[in-house]
Amino acid sequence: MKSFASDNYSGIHPRILEAVVRANNLHEISYGDDTYTLKSNELFNRIFGDTSVLYAFNGTGANVISLKCCLQPFEAVICAETAHINADECGAPTQSTGSSLLTIKTSNGKLAPELIKPFLSRIGNVHNTQPKVISISQSTELGTVYSLKELRALADFAHDNGMYLHVDGARISNAVASLGVGLKEATVDCGVDIMSFGGTKNGLMIGEAVLVFNPELQKNAPFFQKQTAQLFSKNRFIAAQFEEMLKDDLWLEMAQHSNTMAQFLVKKLNEIPEVKITQAVDANAVFAIIPEKAIIPLQKKYRFYIWDEQTREVRWMCSFDTTEEDVIDFAETLKSLI
Ligand SMILES: Cc1ncc(COP(=O)(O)O)c(C=O)c1O
Repeated sequence: MKSFASDNYSGIHPRILEAVVRANNLHEISYGDDTYTLKSNELFNRIFGDTSVLYAFNGTGANVISLKCCLQPFEAVICAETAHINADECGAPTQSTGSSLLTIKTSNGKLAPELIKPFLSRIGNVHNTQPKVISISQSTELGTVYSLKELRALADFAHDNGMYLHVDGARISNAVASLGVGLKEATVDCGVDIMSFGGTKNGLMIGEAVLVFNPELQKNAPFFQKQTAQLFSKNRFIAAQFEEMLKDDLWLEMAQHSNTMAQFLVKKLNEIPEVKITQAVDANAVFAIIPEKAIIPLQKKYRFYIWDEQTREVRWMCSFDTTEEDVIDFAETLKSLI
């Protein structure tokens, strides 16, 4: 059964799986000194410029490594209340950095300098944790995407105030596909210091990468990767997937497809007057409020999550393997239930 629950419900893109099988050949040096990791690192460097690359098993691990690179235990991370690091990582970022999260309520998952300004009065006061990182998700947990202008404004604001900008890019491919620009243009060129680059939600079997753009943050990163148990001795099997994804823009093809399917879903939902779409559909997620009576019967056929128990808002996500037929059947089923 296909689902609209999450982009990590989908399987592995066939080309990625073949790349893993190809890497299963003879022996290779362990702990990332293998030929596949070197090639993948080279591709990341070709795309982003001079960048330290560290691989991780999952997005939580990538975020933890990224934040550890930026923080002393008395420093803090400013993020949206909805940020995965706050809402869905079981306290991993605070537990492993010793730092705290300063969260901000937003209407659309996005931070902006004016929302962060009130926290600056804490800088220099020994009684307060010291804001040191602004962490944003791109695309956000609410399916919205920061424009280049918004990103630059946040990076400038962070740097002017002695902070770093971290991007949780579990869905950076979807965001960049939506913006229609290059990966570097949407990250390094906007002033991002460090990023968790997503793989699993865009067709990989397993693997994320931490991309450390700011040279100040590069030195300790490998030690934090090891200390947080994210250094894979057979790293070639993560790296081979990234090499396949990056070498001829498979990442973009997959992300464009899932975004296109989300737009197609919106088109179909717009034919049902009882469905109210609640967020801008910038990437591959659709948030909506639908008649209560339809939720459980629809979930029996298609898995998806109720995002907000109070408002009964639901979330539907498209993946690299969502088809037009899936969307049509989903919308038809919903229509018949209403
Ligand atoms: C925005 C965001 N960041 C990070 C993650 C990574 O989570 P995990 O540790 O489950 O791979 C997710 C997964 O849902 C996510 O949505």
